Amino acid sequence: MNRPIVDNAAPRPVIIDTDPGIDDAMAILGAFADPALEIRGLTTVFGNVPLATATRNTLQLVELAARSVPVAAGAALPLRRPPAPHPEIVHGTDGFGGVQLPEPAIAPDTRTAPVFLAEETRAARAAHSPLTIVALGPLTNLALALEASPAIVEDVAGVIVMGGAVRHPGNVTDEAEANFWQDPHAAALVLAAPWPVTLIGLDVTECARLYPEDLAALPPGRCTAFLARAARHYAAFHLDTRGFHGCYLHDPTAAAAAADPALLETRRLPLAVTLEGAAEGMVREAPGSDEVEVAIAANAPGIRARLLGGLAAGRLP
Ligand code: BDR
Ligand code: CA
Repeated sequence: MNRPIVDNAAPRPVIIDTDPGIDDAMAILGAFADPALEIRGLTTVFGNVPLATATRNTLQLVELAARSVPVAAGAALPLRRPPAPHPEIVHGTDGFGGVQLPEPAIAPDTRTAPVFLAEETRAARAAHSPLTIVALGPLTNLALALEASPAIVEDVAGVIVMGGAVRHPGNVTDEAEANFWQDPHAAALVLAAPWPVTLIGLDVTECARLYPEDLAALPPGRCTAFLARAARHYAAFHLDTRGFHGCYLHDPTAAAAAADPALLETRRLPLAVTLEGAAEGMVREAPGSDEVEVAIAANAPGIRARLLGGLAAGRLP
């Protein structure tokens, strides 16, 4: 395959596919503030909240960060399984733990997320600045883009996926992680496609934690104030269900790894996703299956520092 050449000195251009979500919001604002990343677009998907809420929330984050970046709305439903209830207990009914932001003045891009992903990755490759897709929700948009535009596998520089739990228990069922559980068929298609996937599952994201005092120590500003308030809801959920007053850095780990891949130790593993039955959404090592790069260890303090670094430097309003 003729893989595009990546310029390692320039900020890494990315599209973030997302279902905000409190940890999605942390990842997006952290990425906006990270000088090693350049967000070229955001695409939205159902997941933590319905699609319309995910799109509104993403537009609100772009405005909060005072950036001019297109947002394209994508899938409202999984590929095949019936839609699951949205996890209101984790992120609140509005996805931001009840913290309200102004209604967005900007409108979504006219293209759907799968079309946006295909067109933007093609154009970026042609401009010798190939994009990495960072996926923070169910993988439905990526699967639809693969189906409609198979050449996307050659246009991307890489695909970084927060999802799954390979050698680790799940967080929705004993076996399955939320993003894979919500659309296991999409997850299977994305892992099997011939593009360079790095899978970042609960195996490592539950090692990286953030505490309310980390956010309280940041300089005042509307972005840090929003994150500190939304994190209260997320920390209360973790206290009730996980026994610590703080939160796992699921999605911020994927953004941090996009900025600095050395934060992860990875291994190529053959993986298979269970599509049906009690263990649907489970991903396990399965000899003979397609291999992907899987995060097996992470520099947890480094991930937290990466998330907080740009915010502490006051790079956002
Ligand atoms: C994943 O599920 C969602 O709740 C989070 O935003 C994250 O993407 C963690 O399992
Ligand atoms: Ca998410």
